[in-house]
Amino acid sequence: MIRFLTSGESHGRCLAAIIDGMPYGLKISEKDINLELSRRRKGYGRGERAASIENDIAEIVSGVRQGRTIASPITILIKNRDWQNWSEVMCLEKMKFDKRFIMPSARPGHADLAGYLKYDSEEIRDILERASARETAARVAVGSVCKKFLSEFGIRITSYVKEIGGIKARNVNIDIDKIISASEQSPVRCLDSAAEKNMIKMIEKAQADGNTLGGRFVVVVSGAPVGLGSHAQWDNKLDARLSLALMSIQSVKAVAIGAGFNASELSGSKFHDEIYYKKGIGYLRKTNNAGGIEGGISNGETIICDCIVKPIPSLKKPLTTVDLKTKKSVKAEAVRSDVCVVPAAGVVGESAVAVEIAKAFTEKFSGDTIREIKRNFSAYRAYLAKR
Ligand SMILES: Cc1cc2nc3c(=O)[nH]c(=O)nc-3n(C[C@H](O)[C@H](O)[C@H](O)COP(=O)(O)O)c2cc1C
Repeated sequence: MIRFLTSGESHGRCLAAIIDGMPYGLKISEKDINLELSRRRKGYGRGERAASIENDIAEIVSGVRQGRTIASPITILIKNRDWQNWSEVMCLEKMKFDKRFIMPSARPGHADLAGYLKYDSEEIRDILERASARETAARVAVGSVCKKFLSEFGIRITSYVKEIGGIKARNVNIDIDKIISASEQSPVRCLDSAAEKNMIKMIEKAQADGNTLGGRFVVVVSGAPVGLGSHAQWDNKLDARLSLALMSIQSVKAVAIGAGFNASELSGSKFHDEIYYKKGIGYLRKTNNAGGIEGGISNGETIICDCIVKPIPSLKKPLTTVDLKTKKSVKAEAVRSDVCVVPAAGVVGESAVAVEIAKAFTEKFSGDTIREIKRNFSAYRAYLAKR
């Protein structure tokens, strides 16, 4: 079973991830991980930290030998480049540090206040350091290994942006290769160039106003076979598993599979994807409103996950909050931060999805080695070809 944990604080020494259960014999390098980490830093609207300080480099410190996995837990470290500047604030031992680093108030929209009260904490920093989306770098590292695993079986995952600050992109119906090339070229990962221009203008306006923007991204999985996940138990349903993984990303507030966000408006005859059969091809659909999953099981169509991201909560023109000592109304800390993270959130979403699909895939085609899983998978494909 593939499972993982991440650890590390935003301004701590480093982030870490341990991936357990990755089969033996997967070719993987630090370069594969770094490529995904660099994709996470991009996107028009990211702040100074993403552009410079988060120039992340992954170090694999266990689980890989001679260029391939050896079935032991894989440990990945990502050093925080500005840790030296924070070594007093983040010191393991109790020591004096510049009081300016103590946050006097909680920022609305962050875990600050709820965490401060829940843990009877002395300082909001104890909460915000881990709640920060810096943690998503570790998750992208994990996702990059899972993506590499899935690519061995012809499964590919990408993402694109559908909406930023109310600017909606036109619906597109293109294959995964075109989605990959168009999204990688766009500064906002958008496939509609007219909408892209307006999204950039909206981001610039928000930046000038000291404001932030949210939006919507879509993760697309091509090549997933029929039969991942299960209808039989609530926590085995693939759509439920994907939703949990995506919803756990900082600032994601809604997840739909396929045309889920429109399901309340469409009648049954419009929503459901009718089934056809063609000799040589097998079962097929002309539409994919189900987003590749029916009854918790992948149905062989492209898996589509649609996610809504809230506007990020740290504003240059700060929101009203309360001073934790005096209880007087004050403005939240004005910090330099991102203005819009929707494109980056999409890249994190790809990783979240990659992990869940890799887990479901290894459950279905289980084996200790990549070779063994390949044998199981090709036997299944041969069986499907006869159905
Ligand atoms: C890639 C990424 C980068 C983010 N950067 C920031 C940021 O610079 N400033 C900020 O206030 N929130 C940022 N966020 C969002 C917050 O981390 C998030 O809103 C906060 O932790 C509260 O979690 P919740 O929105 O899921 O409730 C970012 C989110 C992601 C996915």
